Amino acid sequence: MTEIITVGNYKGGVGKSSITEIFAFLLDKEHNKKVLLVDTDPQMNLSDKVRRTFKAEAKPKKQLMQAIEDQTIEDALVTINDNIDLLVGDWQIEKFHQHVSNLPKQAQFYLLYTLTKDLVKNYDYVLIDTRPSTDIMTNNAVSMSDYVLIVAKTEQDSFTSSQRYYKYLSEMAQYNENLKLLGVIQYLVNTRGSTDRKIMQDFADLFEDDVLKSVVRSSERVKTWGYHGITTEYAHDKKTMKMYKNALKEVLDKLRQPNKQ
Ligand SMILES: Nc1ncnc2c1ncn2[C@@H]1O[C@H](COP(=O)(O)OP(=O)(O)O)[C@@H](O)[C@H]1O
Ligand SMILES: [Mg+2]
Repeated sequence: MTEIITVGNYKGGVGKSSITEIFAFLLDKEHNKKVLLVDTDPQMNLSDKVRRTFKAEAKPKKQLMQAIEDQTIEDALVTINDNIDLLVGDWQIEKFHQHVSNLPKQAQFYLLYTLTKDLVKNYDYVLIDTRPSTDIMTNNAVSMSDYVLIVAKTEQDSFTSSQRYYKYLSEMAQYNENLKLLGVIQYLVNTRGSTDRKIMQDFADLFEDDVLKSVVRSSERVKTWGYHGITTEYAHDKKTMKMYKNALKEVLDKLRQPNKQ
């Protein structure tokens, strides 16, 4: 069965694209799972990261917006390796809003679902990276997802954005009644900071059991990966990767709980 997961938050710079890439990397290397990555952010950070890590040219036959307009979304798909495929990001996706405005109101939320519903069946996991806003493309991502993973920094602004994003998700339930919150993963800004601890408490109060026990710490290594692509051969890589492995393990355990709300 395919599990479709939107990675989101209203806020940018909280680690959404990084965690999406690293989870895909681990799902491939450690779990031998088939993953479709969908880059819906016109900034295309996820596509760039994946290109760097997997040394893939990742040039699709058509740009994503064009493929959507032509109703042949597979033309924006590239094979990264045996397990990972990527629907490559496109700065022109800004035009998506205009494109769907011609459709009836309801259909505007389901265009991405309609175009990908056969494609997604080929994968164990579909990870959709979203831009830090709730535009119509993000609505489409959420409408086709089984789960949303909220990525949040331990900063006041990020907490407030997560709160608003959660409210947005509850409003989206009218378009996707099966939507579930997979969890909130905290990206610790300052591992020893008292503000971080206070904000972690705020997250715990608001999201309760939905807050993942694993946290991602601020790590120079992740910044280096952002620059050169993910590496695993250095001592620092292993320590850093361990936090993401723990987080992914918790996510996979949550997915296996049959009654997850
Ligand atoms: N654990 C981490 N430690 C340090 N820097 C990180 C970490 N995770 C992500 N970053 C950096 O933070 C910045 C924003 O991350 P990114 O994943 O692009 O966020 P978003 O997709 O939410 O905008 C990037 O420069 C990235 O390299
Ligand atoms: Mg991003």
